[in-house]
Formats: sequence, structure tokens, C-alpha cells
Amino acid sequence: MTHSTPAKARLAVLISGNGSNLQAILDACADGRLNALVTLVVSNHFDAYGINRANRAGVPVLCLPRRNDQARAEYDAELASFVAASQPDWVVLAGWMRILSTAFLRAFPGRVINLHPALPGTFPGAHAIEDAFNAYRQGQIVQTGVMVHLVPDEGVDCGPVLASETVAIQSQDTLENLEARIHQVEHRLLVETLAKLVNSSELLKESPK
Ligand code: GRF
Repeated sequence: MTHSTPAKARLAVLISGNGSNLQAILDACADGRLNALVTLVVSNHFDAYGINRANRAGVPVLCLPRRNDQARAEYDAELASFVAASQPDWVVLAGWMRILSTAFLRAFPGRVINLHPALPGTFPGAHAIEDAFNAYRQGQIVQTGVMVHLVPDEGVDCGPVLASETVAIQSQDTLENLEARIHQVEHRLLVETLAKLVNSSELLKESPK
């Protein structure tokens, strides 16, 4: 009988800032919770702290800010070609703060995953936690949450949901400690969801030992 080890899934991770979710992925790859390899980190900002995290982990980094003279579709096509060159199984938007057009998405159908710090259908956009906190203070909601979803098109923070988890808002919460709790959930939920995806595709893609 031939034994085989599932090949590690190849992840391209796109970031714009701190990269704490990138760090969660790198840690999970390093300690075996995630049978994957981050093959490329892309930042659209030169000063994103996540670049340091990628450097420390020895992962190739591409810094690709959009040039002023560059149309959105042109930038997205250039980005797609760099990301495609790293041959990712999955493209993970982990705090990537640009909306990707079809010029990018058509290169990775069904393989782009986004993390959003709110429940499905609520608070799209860059200020989801603050928006939820304000809605709580106005008595409109009692909980918020986190979701991981596929990105099929240019819709903002929507698409088929892979996982979601609620986070209760407490009366003594400040925006800062609500943010901290949400980020903790994000780090765990993103890794768990990626692990499920990777494991479900391992059956299709086994490599000899
Ligand atoms: C996360 O809350 C993510 O959901 C949102 O931006 C934040 C990025 O955090 N889109 P980090 O850069 O991973 O620390």
C-alpha cells in the first residue's frame, strides 16, 4: 500500500495594515494546525506592519501600491498576475482594504476568501466594528460578530458565507475592548475555516511521500 501525505495548500495573503490575522495564519502553519504554506504576502502599503511579520516568517513579500496614474482595472490585473505567479490554492484577504474588481477576481474563481468583522449582511465597509458599537449604543443591536466568506464579485463584504460567529456587546464595553474581542474571534475563526477548506481539498490533491 502506498502512503501519501497531503500536500500543503498554498496561500497568498493580501494585507493593508497590522497583519494580526496574517500572523494567526503564519502561527497556525508553523505549529501544524493549518496544513498550508503562505507562499506570498502582498501589501498595498509600504508601511504596513504586516510586512515585518511576513519578513520574520521568511515569506516572500510584494509591496504593490496603486500608482496615481493607474486605473483600477489595470492595477487589479497587475496584482492578479503577481498573485497567480505564486500559484495559490487560496487567496486570503486578511485586512485587505481595497475592493477587488473582476480584473482580479476572474483569475481566482471560487478561491478568494475575505474576513469581515461583522455578521453576514451587517455593517459592510472599513468601519464595521465602530458602526456596530454605535448601533449598540443606539439600542439597535445587542451583538455583532465575525464572518469568513467567499468573494465571487465586487460586492463589499458579502458573498457565500463559510463561517460566522457572534460576539456579544456588553454594557461596559468600550470600542477598544470590543475591537480586541472581535480580533480574537477573527484570528481563531479564520484559521479554523482555512483548515476546513484545506482539509476538504486535500482528498483531491495528494502527493506521494
Ligand atoms: C480585521 O478586523 C479585518 O477583519 C478587517 O481589517 C482588520 C485587519 O486587521 N478587514 P489585521 O491587519 O489583520 O490586524
